[in-house]
Amino acid sequence: MQVHPASLAEPWWKRGVIYNLYPCSYMDGNGDGWGDIAGIRSRLDHLVRLGIDAIWMSPVFVSPMKDFGYDVADHTAIGPQFGTLAEMDALIAEVHDRGMKLMIDFVPNHTSDQHPWFLESRASRDNPRADWYVWHDPAPGGGPPNNWRSLFGGSAWAWCEERGQYWYHAFLAEQPDLNWRNPAVAAAMHDVMRFWLRRGIDGFRIDAMWHLLKDPLFRDNPPNPDFKPGEPAIRELLQIRIADLPETVDVVRGFRRVLDEFPDRATIGELYLDFDRICAYYGAALDGCNLPFNLHLIMDPWKADVVARAIETYEAALPEGAWPNWIFGNPDNPRVASRLGPAQARVAAVFLFTARGTPIVWQGDELGLTNGVVPPERVRDPQEKQEPGLVDHNRDIARTPMPWDGTTHAGFSTVEPWLPLTPDHASVNVAAEERDPRSMLSLHRRLIALRRAHPALAIGDVTVLTGANDVLAYERRHGGERFVVALNFAHAARSATLTEAAGGRIVLTSGLDREGETVGEVVRLAADEAVVIALTE
Ligand code: GLC
Repeated sequence: MQVHPASLAEPWWKRGVIYNLYPCSYMDGNGDGWGDIAGIRSRLDHLVRLGIDAIWMSPVFVSPMKDFGYDVADHTAIGPQFGTLAEMDALIAEVHDRGMKLMIDFVPNHTSDQHPWFLESRASRDNPRADWYVWHDPAPGGGPPNNWRSLFGGSAWAWCEERGQYWYHAFLAEQPDLNWRNPAVAAAMHDVMRFWLRRGIDGFRIDAMWHLLKDPLFRDNPPNPDFKPGEPAIRELLQIRIADLPETVDVVRGFRRVLDEFPDRATIGELYLDFDRICAYYGAALDGCNLPFNLHLIMDPWKADVVARAIETYEAALPEGAWPNWIFGNPDNPRVASRLGPAQARVAAVFLFTARGTPIVWQGDELGLTNGVVPPERVRDPQEKQEPGLVDHNRDIARTPMPWDGTTHAGFSTVEPWLPLTPDHASVNVAAEERDPRSMLSLHRRLIALRRAHPALAIGDVTVLTGANDVLAYERRHGGERFVVALNFAHAARSATLTEAAGGRIVLTSGLDREGETVGEVVRLAADEAVVIALTE
């Protein structure tokens, strides 16, 4: 798939499409029921045919796998269940040979409790790494130092007998938080980045980026007046002492200085925040994160007026020269096809690839995968195990293996996979969808090809035309190229008066039946239909 030369003038992370690949569930190469690097290497062509520019691969480092790789015990070695460093080098080379970039997860907020740094730190109060993690004495009357909670439920403090102190963990107790106020920690983690950048990695997805610093005075978090019963326990408190502290951006700028020692690298970073706070992480001089995540399509209701407002709020908040991004799914949330339903998931796909901002695709969403069905005895997710039964809290349902074909284990493995396959894998799989021009996969390929061919869609400006009456419409423009995109969020027909679209020609729809049609001032949309209209100046 060719990229238009005008788009090529922009960096890859701006003009391209990023694919979040989850190694445990992408492809099993050694027949143990778990995905691995050998499996990924055998299935790269799927991403090439899709038109992906960059892969962001979730962690494959040495890990006890308490949080499926987000508990790193050795930052510069590959976990044996995933493969070897030599295989990782081969993967980097093969991704590059196919014209793609490879980004990996960088987990700076915490390590595994089995990491040598933590084993040393916990041994005494005066060892060389005593201050590498967030330690605190008990409260004056005994017990945890304050009311801080873990994102996975319960107190965020775990007791260490050897030191007679508590360690802080934003996530599991087995994931102690590093102390980013200690310059030695920053130096060591910067060296981890350099290790991978030298091997040819094109950048990082920075995990839990808004959690890196905690209140140095260890003050309590205040109660959250908006807490609703049934929500995770952490929501009972506002997180103001443990997340998004203003000085966190300085840590992020430190990452950027390391990145800038190497040409053409980039970071994307995890933040569940409002637009004004997301935008702080670009850095005032655009010297922070290249693409701080915008997770509003996951957090907010899917309504035309809400998305219209989101585009406008985001565009207004972006610092001069900063580039946006849009994301519908990730390994931590229910799938978009289940949240919105299959018909609106197609409308969502049209939005993702025609919006102004880098599209980040969660593995399997290109097939329209729905949430997996995971019986209680097969639950793997530690979050679900710690706080069972909460709505939308089980992350396993989004992490089920990729169905490649209609065979017993869906071409993912030769044995029963670590998580069950989606129930409809016999029909919803890569091979079946490749043969069907109406499939979600075919829609994704057409959308990505269109975006690559037209700078207005890849790198152009955006103007919102309407968000009323269930219709979201916006214009994309670059040089003499102009498109109007109209999306119907309703399960019933709608029409919108869009003078900007008059005389234009439909070049793509979420269905397949109106390509080539010329539109007038009133654009009619069938139920759950999205259209892309090309205009010539
Ligand atoms: C991020 C990851 C999530 C992980 C957590 C702790 O939120 O996306 O999967 O559990 O960080 O590292």
